[in-house]
Amino acid sequence: MQTIYLDYNASTPIAPEVAEAMKPFLTDYYGNPSTTHWAGKPARQAYEKARQQVADLLGCDPEEVIFTSGGSESNNHALKGVFFALKEKGTHIVTTQIEHPSIINPCKFLEKLGAKVTYVGVDRFGQVSPSDIEKAITNETILISVMHANNEVGTIQPIADIAKIAKKYNILFHTDAAQAVGKIPTRVDELGVDLLSVAGHKLYAPKGVGALYIRRGTPIESLVHGAGHEGGRRAGTENILLAVGLGIACELAAENLKNATTKELRDYLMRKWPPLRQEMSHYAVLRQ
Ligand SMILES: Cc1ncc(COP(=O)(O)O)c(C=O)c1O
Repeated sequence: MQTIYLDYNASTPIAPEVAEAMKPFLTDYYGNPSTTHWAGKPARQAYEKARQQVADLLGCDPEEVIFTSGGSESNNHALKGVFFALKEKGTHIVTTQIEHPSIINPCKFLEKLGAKVTYVGVDRFGQVSPSDIEKAITNETILISVMHANNEVGTIQPIADIAKIAKKYNILFHTDAAQAVGKIPTRVDELGVDLLSVAGHKLYAPKGVGALYIRRGTPIESLVHGAGHEGGRRAGTENILLAVGLGIACELAAENLKNATTKELRDYLMRKWPPLRQEMSHYAVLRQ
């Protein structure tokens, strides 16, 4: 029996171009990128090129990107890092009831440390209303975290509208874009976010690698203290192999987004298959 794999929201295969680009870093380039001698230099160059590729997809400066072990770590870092940095200012976080466990569970953990968290509900299509987010804000609110695209039903949240509200109240805004990056545009200035999480294995990079966009000047504590890797924001000798994979995957994604193939394919299916059109016509995803 031939099997067909369609669950690309759970995970994607590694793209052949990604695997190919990673190969030399399994065998030839083993130097520590923090060293200044011949062995470290190519590793550092490849690592910074990968950071640039991620930044290009997100429309930000490479200094605003750190590599992580994936979406879960990026989400943990955003929530805990902002809480630890700003808890003297306020302890309230606003999020939604439909976030991935890597948002909900860090929130539960922070509640044990004194955080107050409001979990805003969604409508029957899984969409949160920006006005409900605004109503949840208090004088104590330090962070709003709303996912970009939902991992269960695909609903896309009105991130840019929520960002305007966050800005109005001078509150930091994070989005878990694990299911969005590479599939729809996720340029940080268009979205208006201060923090954005990327999960590599949702866009044809390997599992175990991701990134966190941190807008310049955002107060955030490190989760892993040590030597000054990633601008002091995440200690540990860099994983060049995985970063190179994520970098190439982001470059490919940027190209694919220009081609808009996924959208065309979806629209084609809708045209050809009316029951699908009827079924999906309610979903926010179709407004994109
Ligand atoms: C919306 C969302 N956020 C975060 C994650 C976690 O990403 P990772 O598996 O890279 O830790 C996932 C993965 O399923 C996800 O769908």
